[in-house]
Amino acid sequence: MNVEIRVVDDPPRAAAELLVEAAGHVALSGGSTPGVAYELAAALRPDWSRLHVWFGDDRAVPPDDERSNLRLARETLLDRLDTQPEVHRIEGELGAEKAAARYDEELAGVTLDLALNGIGPDGHTASIFPGAPALDERQRRAVAAEARLEPLVPRVTLTPPVFAEARLLVYLVTGEAKAAAARRAFADEPSRDTPASLVRGRETVAILDAAAAALL
Ligand code: 6PG
Repeated sequence: MNVEIRVVDDPPRAAAELLVEAAGHVALSGGSTPGVAYELAAALRPDWSRLHVWFGDDRAVPPDDERSNLRLARETLLDRLDTQPEVHRIEGELGAEKAAARYDEELAGVTLDLALNGIGPDGHTASIFPGAPALDERQRRAVAAEARLEPLVPRVTLTPPVFAEARLLVYLVTGEAKAAAARRAFADEPSRDTPASLVRGRETVAILDAAAAALL
């Protein structure tokens, strides 16, 4: 469960630098933290034509819904690029179960080169919530999940085995509200109460600011 901890002054920049070095298949996350990293990544590398973009999770909403992670990625990254990657979106408008089944099929044979994940204050990552069935999934690459935090809409999430195969899993965690969760994820014994303590890539890097790292 080894994680390389990097405490930096400018976490979005550190995450953006990893994103622009990535080749192949990249999975993005949503939430309030990664937008600035996406904007920087777009500025640093306007040509994403050789990349495939996936989503670590999304809400089961249409793509233009303000809660959509695809929409966040569009506004902060995709719309700013000169050349587009191939975007593999979660079809939230179909409902979580159907969208998950379709994403599972689309992911067949795909190994992620980089997954950028966040951590919720409750210790969730992607939409793998504390104690949730997604923690035990070993076959399917994407499953429907129930939200435990706002926005309380059904989700679709990639599963632990997909992240486990990822060449590099990057956690981007900022702010003092995440300090306790970061400790549970990266310093304490792994636990089902803290999915981010169990979800690891082949290599895992955690990028934190000093506030999020205060309890490590
Ligand atoms: C989502 C995410 C989720 C997120 C964490 C942290 O769609 O909600 O992918 O796992 O990374 O909840 O989100 P914040 O950056 O908003 O704290």
